Amino acid sequence: MIEAIRIKGGNPLIGNIEILGAKNAALPLLCATLLTDQKLSFDRVPDLADIKTLSALLIQHGCEIKQNGNSFELTTQSIASEVAPYQLVSMMRASILVLGPLLARHGAAKVALPGGCAIGSRPVDFHIRAMEALGAELEVKEGNVIARAPKGGLVGGRINFPKVSVGATENALMAASLARGTTRIENAAREPEIIDLGQLLISMGATISGLGTDTITIEGQSSLNGCQHSVVADRIVAGTFAVGAVITGGDLFLSGARGDHLTSLISLLEEAGANCVSSDDGVQVSMLKGSPKSFDIETREHPGFPTDLQAQVMALACISSGTSTIRETIFENRFMHADELVRLGADIQIHGNQATVRGSKRLSGARVKATDLRAGAALALAGLAASGETLVTALEHLDRGYDNFEEKLRGVGADLERITLNA
Ligand code: UD1
Repeated sequence: MIEAIRIKGGNPLIGNIEILGAKNAALPLLCATLLTDQKLSFDRVPDLADIKTLSALLIQHGCEIKQNGNSFELTTQSIASEVAPYQLVSMMRASILVLGPLLARHGAAKVALPGGCAIGSRPVDFHIRAMEALGAELEVKEGNVIARAPKGGLVGGRINFPKVSVGATENALMAASLARGTTRIENAAREPEIIDLGQLLISMGATISGLGTDTITIEGQSSLNGCQHSVVADRIVAGTFAVGAVITGGDLFLSGARGDHLTSLISLLEEAGANCVSSDDGVQVSMLKGSPKSFDIETREHPGFPTDLQAQVMALACISSGTSTIRETIFENRFMHADELVRLGADIQIHGNQATVRGSKRLSGARVKATDLRAGAALALAGLAASGETLVTALEHLDRGYDNFEEKLRGVGADLERITLNA
């Protein structure tokens, strides 16, 4: 039996969608429980498969979790196990984020190597080098990263990343907050999710400056306290629905979305002809008049265009008049969705890390398969704009990152449902 989303395309998306907290913020935020024996409380945690996977991992490290809807309370009195097993790590690469907290609080960690994934090779060498800069000794043995802090715990140091990495910056931030002395992270990631984690660590008692710049300085503490924190809005989910408004010729208000976290996407959508208005309450995206025009885009680290919205804007390029070019500079293999979009009638040529998309007026429905999380969203968006019926399969990817996806879209006029296929 295979689950699929069946979409009857053609309806404009019109109405209001509430944007919850970001998966990519919630994952490191929840991992920070391993840094303290006190209670951390979070609200706006999205209800997602990845959050369930991380919860299972944290529980086996000794964390107690109380969940009430989107509110979570986490307490890790003591570290019950320093081992992050392959069965859980292989389900979700972000599991590597337990490395820094375990090392800092417990002095030791054994984290399975996550292995490959569909969007390309994703090594963890920067995470390892960051922990070494804080005095730890690490080796990769039998598929695990085995790490040990020096006697007396981690010590502050200088970490200079050769390339910007979101996850490695997060691991470094968490470990340095509980290390002795001062740590300076150079070439740090500047994503809103990094700032959100930094703000949590400040509330827990760490002294941190430079968040949102490429140099972050952390004064480590001997212990960290509990606190309450609200997860920052998911800019990728908001961006996905924003593209949905434009691709269907609709008008959506994304309540809770942060326009200041979506500037590169908003510029692209305006170039395509959409009208976007940001306010304190959210972002309005409208494409009620005219049809979208082509655009050129290159993915970059924040504040550049996010790789996690590349597949969705490729779907938009497929129906935009003219020729669009899309260059992917973060992950080498992140064009797997192109062949699936071609099944819906798109004209896409790939040369190395550049896709050339010749837009046509209409796509036509077909059965397609999500190759990764954002590809699943992109195919659903394409299906919403296509004539006829589209079936999107391999929903396990989509469920990792989108909370109540079909329900939210149905609420703004889409005709879609989850069904079970025999094969
Ligand atoms: C995070 C996001 C993911 C997003 C990505 C880039 C989470 C849970 N996931 O992933 O959705 O697509 O940022 O914005 O927040 N690299 C190395 N060695 C390392 C680490 C990374 O070479 O040790 C490379 C990667 O292969 C990639 C680049 O650095 O080419 C950026 O990856 P990184 O920012 O680390 O991505 P993640 O944190 O895994």
